[in-house]
Amino acid sequence: MPERIVLAIETSCDETAVAILRGGTLLASEVASQIALHQPYGGVVPEVAARDHLRMIRPVLNKALATAHLAIGDIGAFAATRGPGLATSLMIGMSAAKSLAVALERPFLAINHLEGHLLSPFFRVPGGVRPAVGLIVSGGHTLLVDLEGVGRYHVLGQTLDDAAGEAFDKIGKLLGLPYPGGPHVNQLGLNGNPARYDFPRSMIGTDDFNFSFSGLKTSVRYLLPKLAEYKIEDLCASFQEAIVEVLVAKTMRAAAETGRPTIAVSGGVSCNSRLRENFADTCAAHGIELLLAEPQLCTDNAAMIAYVAAQRLNLGEASPLILDIDPNLKLVG
Ligand code: KG4
Ligand code: ZN
Repeated sequence: MPERIVLAIETSCDETAVAILRGGTLLASEVASQIALHQPYGGVVPEVAARDHLRMIRPVLNKALATAHLAIGDIGAFAATRGPGLATSLMIGMSAAKSLAVALERPFLAINHLEGHLLSPFFRVPGGVRPAVGLIVSGGHTLLVDLEGVGRYHVLGQTLDDAAGEAFDKIGKLLGLPYPGGPHVNQLGLNGNPARYDFPRSMIGTDDFNFSFSGLKTSVRYLLPKLAEYKIEDLCASFQEAIVEVLVAKTMRAAAETGRPTIAVSGGVSCNSRLRENFADTCAAHGIELLLAEPQLCTDNAAMIAYVAAQRLNLGEASPLILDIDPNLKLVG
């Protein structure tokens, strides 16, 4: 039997994304970003996001079909992100996928956005999903997960306050950088001295797997007015170094304690070049296999949702059409 073609829609926040996957082959992955729309407000405005998803969903869907050289009738299953995310944004993608599934009498799959991120490092890796410690670092989440296999996850720890990406974005705002600050802090930090300022490595030595990044933001806020002059590159490099060191140290300890031979890093912040570099060096030194999500799969996209949907279909799963969005959906239970 030919492998079923999966079309997935992701609209959990400010990206309207549609991907089409056949077996292990990504036939299309379209992302329409709303960053420019939200930039004047310094953050995502839910009402603006939902309206733009509504405007973009059909053109993005049609573009994905055109890129894949397929007609809608060729699709074998429809998937959408169920949560977590902004309620009014999630509704657009879920309603679209459900309507298509009903009209074409195909299975529907409601997918957890966090599971999308978590499994994204395994995409295109021979052998696929395998036991690992997963680190999800995004704008909304910082999660360390013991991953046994598809659907078998145990949360080891998470942030107690700001998510890693949120910390990057808040520092970016303090420094007057455009939203979202993460990529700008990364870029500027490449030309700065990471040892110039000694920012706190909060909770690096605690024997749990939780994180806290709000103190780091506060120390930058207090330091700034005291500096007569500063090089923004040094501030970015030093801040980035502090956050990266904590993320790498805790993830390495999770791998040591669980005995997992692999570390899988995902989410928007996993685009960060310093994070990728530090993980690569540290894992090589400890003989741990490192899987980093491909850059285009780090930030929000529908390919990761299609990938999870395909795994779930292979396990014989589908979702009932009455299943509603869940803005606070957890990775486990
Ligand atoms: O995964 P994602 O697209 O959305 C959520 O699910 O939250 O992550 C977006 C986050 C933003 O906070 C953004 O600033 C951050 O990822 N980000 C980065 C980089 N690229 C994106 N943070 C640090 N360095 C980067 N290169
Ligand atoms: Zn995300």
